[in-house]
Amino acid sequence: MKTNRSSTYAKMPVRTALAVILTAWSVSFAFSQATGYPEYGLYDTDLLPPSFFKANREKLLRAIGDSALAVFYSAPEHTRINDTEFKYRQDNDFFYLTGCNQPNSLLLLSSRPFEVSDTSGKHSVREILFVEERNPARETWTGRQLGPYGAITVLGFESALPNSVIEKTLGKIIPNTKEAYFPLEPSQAEGKLAEFVRTVENYERLLQHWGRVGIRNPVPLVRQMREVKSPEELRLIRRAVDISMDGHRQMLKSCKPGMYEYQLQALFEYVTVSQGAEYMAYPCIVGSNENSVILHYESNRRRLGAGEVIVADCGAEYHNYASDITRTIPVGGKFTAPQRQIYDIVLSAQEKSMDLMKPGVNYYAIVNKKAIDVVRDGLLKLGIIKDSADYRKYFMHGVGHPVGLDVHDVSLTGVLKAGEVWTVEPGIYIPAHSEGVDPKYWNIGVRLEDDVLVTENGYELLTKDLPRDPDAVERLMKEPGIGALPVK
Ligand code: GLY
Ligand code: MN
Ligand code: MN
Repeated sequence: MKTNRSSTYAKMPVRTALAVILTAWSVSFAFSQATGYPEYGLYDTDLLPPSFFKANREKLLRAIGDSALAVFYSAPEHTRINDTEFKYRQDNDFFYLTGCNQPNSLLLLSSRPFEVSDTSGKHSVREILFVEERNPARETWTGRQLGPYGAITVLGFESALPNSVIEKTLGKIIPNTKEAYFPLEPSQAEGKLAEFVRTVENYERLLQHWGRVGIRNPVPLVRQMREVKSPEELRLIRRAVDISMDGHRQMLKSCKPGMYEYQLQALFEYVTVSQGAEYMAYPCIVGSNENSVILHYESNRRRLGAGEVIVADCGAEYHNYASDITRTIPVGGKFTAPQRQIYDIVLSAQEKSMDLMKPGVNYYAIVNKKAIDVVRDGLLKLGIIKDSADYRKYFMHGVGHPVGLDVHDVSLTGVLKAGEVWTVEPGIYIPAHSEGVDPKYWNIGVRLEDDVLVTENGYELLTKDLPRDPDAVERLMKEPGIGALPVK
């Protein structure tokens, strides 16, 4: 039945009418929040809120001072093969400031308000997101876009404009600025991004020529802001960790001699993508036997043999946030005695170094050093090395790194702060024919990698529900898994 709304409202007192309008608006807002924004191709309802990104922009504006502008670019697209791009992944600094996952976008911040005309009319702003204009014909091929209006309504920008007016807009703002923060040239800028880079570079040259505007790099300022994770970011990191632990449990339960490394990879990806992971945080590393001693082995083509060991380093990415987890799996469900000896050293190095983590501790000087000491002593004791400096032959990487938007995230000083997430990942890798090493240790690679949140008083092990103790690993491997599809 059709109702005559205007006559209904006409009979209401003004205050009641306002209340009705406000309720209707908040219901429709809550509805759009609960269902995503299908008109823009956005369906997830647990994305970081616009307020998170807005707070980051405000913080950056405070950091650049009161007469400066800053520019950030989206990541370029990369061609894989003819007419086919790699699945798009946003630049992390750009994402941290915008929440925008679209290519061909540029963020402009200015600490002095300036006037723009956009879909909201003429007004004074300190931020503009430049994005592709919506184009129904193109969207038929490559999916929905935000367009300037969507950038305002969905991402909460003060202003958004088509990316075709970047040069004109920059030209208006630059004369009122003393400092310009331009990012270094992205190494492989293609297409629209290459145009932006040229535009910004032209200005940069001009400004240098005038010599009255300081040119700076804004990236270190954002990197510093990214070190400590907010509660909203930790929610996403915990989810990435949680679903990755499910993936690891499934690899452990389903692993059988005769399977292929890629079948374990498929199980991990199946479990984590089934929980909504958009990407792997890095290509899955599933290295058995001679491949267990290759730190970043990614081809995953080998068939598993009973009695071998697998280094399975797999972590999913959820809403742009990474996890990074490694377990060492005995094929057949039981570690051999030499495998167990190496495993015990790595586990002890991990536990002893992790236990030193708390705010104020220098990760590289203290935590890393402890892991080295334990590995070195263990290798000396087993007679695998005779000279203590030789530990480097078998433990050739650092004991960990921060995790966040990047799987190898940022820490400018290495001094731990509450709210940072770090991996702790010692390993020992003994290739076949290692000189002077008993052949029973050949082709044994062991890495244990866990994700740790630094807290006010110490740390929280985010991966505590995934077994590390070798007996617990063996017990879990006895449970039935979903198994891989047989290879035809
Ligand atoms: N997955 C890469 C690393 O452990 O650093
Ligand atoms: Mn790692
Ligand atoms: Mn890893």
